[in-house]
Amino acid sequence: MVLNTQELKEIILTNGDSTTYLTHNFHPYAAKFIPQIPVNLIKTFTKERETVLDPFCGSGTSLVEAKLLSRKAIGVDLHAIGVLASKVKTTKISDIELSNIKQVIQQSEFNINRYYGVKTLFPSDKISYKLPEFYNREHWFQENVLHELAIIKECIKQSKVSKELKDLLNLALSSIIVAVSNQESETRYAAINKDIKAKQVLSLFCNKVYDMVTRIQKFSQEASNEVVNVYQADSRYIDFIKNNSVDFIVTSPPYPNTYDYYLYHKLRIFWLDFNVREIQDNEIGSRHKHSSKKEGVDSYIKDMKMCFKQFSRVLKPDKYFAIVEGDCIIAGKMIKGDDLIEEIARENFETVDKIYYSLNHSSKCFNPAFRNKEKEEHILVLRNRKQ
Ligand SMILES: C[S@@+](CC[C@H](N)C(=O)[O-])C[C@H]1O[C@@H](n2cnc3c(N)ncnc32)[C@H](O)[C@@H]1O
Repeated sequence: MVLNTQELKEIILTNGDSTTYLTHNFHPYAAKFIPQIPVNLIKTFTKERETVLDPFCGSGTSLVEAKLLSRKAIGVDLHAIGVLASKVKTTKISDIELSNIKQVIQQSEFNINRYYGVKTLFPSDKISYKLPEFYNREHWFQENVLHELAIIKECIKQSKVSKELKDLLNLALSSIIVAVSNQESETRYAAINKDIKAKQVLSLFCNKVYDMVTRIQKFSQEASNEVVNVYQADSRYIDFIKNNSVDFIVTSPPYPNTYDYYLYHKLRIFWLDFNVREIQDNEIGSRHKHSSKKEGVDSYIKDMKMCFKQFSRVLKPDKYFAIVEGDCIIAGKMIKGDDLIEEIARENFETVDKIYYSLNHSSKCFNPAFRNKEKEEHILVLRNRKQ
């Protein structure tokens, strides 16, 4: 297997074609893959119906592409929001089932109108709902926003639609939460004043749902029927994946000291009734660990070695593992991403190819605050040395 490094580099530097086609735009997620990276790698290293694993699948970019390319896929991520996004983005839904969305939208409209004291022509059922309990709730949300979100959440919960459709609607709700909260941005957890108008939440939610419907219809027509299994788990412990069951691994792990995935999605985690603590404690490489708690790079290497041992176990002998890693700065010292991965991989894998490019050109560098002229991103192709 030979990687066309020049072609891949060109795709990355020009960002390929669009990066938001089909279901890729369903949900914001820091440091998403440019879809063209997994497309290129999956095509190079696998055949149809083989199994691709992404053990840090995040919002599921590589899983979407594996299914489009008729490969089976397994995704693992610690983050409940990433796992929900991955499932929804890779699940086909029939037009008949999608048409049930109308009921949920109508229920939400009726109940939100009632909340604002507006009389409606088409009475629907009145639902009773509760605002979720979490610390500093009023600091993060305007009163009207809390009620609109809670009404929509309850209408989804009480609707008689399938689990797949409920997941899609919950993902639509999740996708708008940061925008309607007082959180400054997707990768900055600080409160600012916003002026979210009456029914703005409802309108954003409806627009998001309608866009998702069109896209999932197209995805359902274009994607193969190969199975995608997504697990919410810590990749240091993936005993549920069988030995020698994977043909190719493609992933982009958390870069050390670069993001806090648990923090950026904290408000979403509250609204969707997931557990923040579980994600925070087990997140590898978080800024919380390396900047606030001052852990050195050693703890990252230790955690990632545990992951790589598992990856070698599940991957067939001599098969390939492609990994995208960025340079990072810990305690003021620059650490090169390729050196770091080679050190972690040494016991189980040999390097067969690598390329690098400047982070300034890459859309993967989501937060401009982390841009650094000297930082590069590296793609390494490793071969499983296991006998
Ligand atoms: C760079 S992101 C992956 C983004 C993904 N390629 C995409 O396109 O959305 C890294 C992911 O590693 C996950 N992660 C961090 N620690 C983990 C752990 N211990 N086990 C599994 N996943 C973990 C984070 O939740 C995050 O989703």
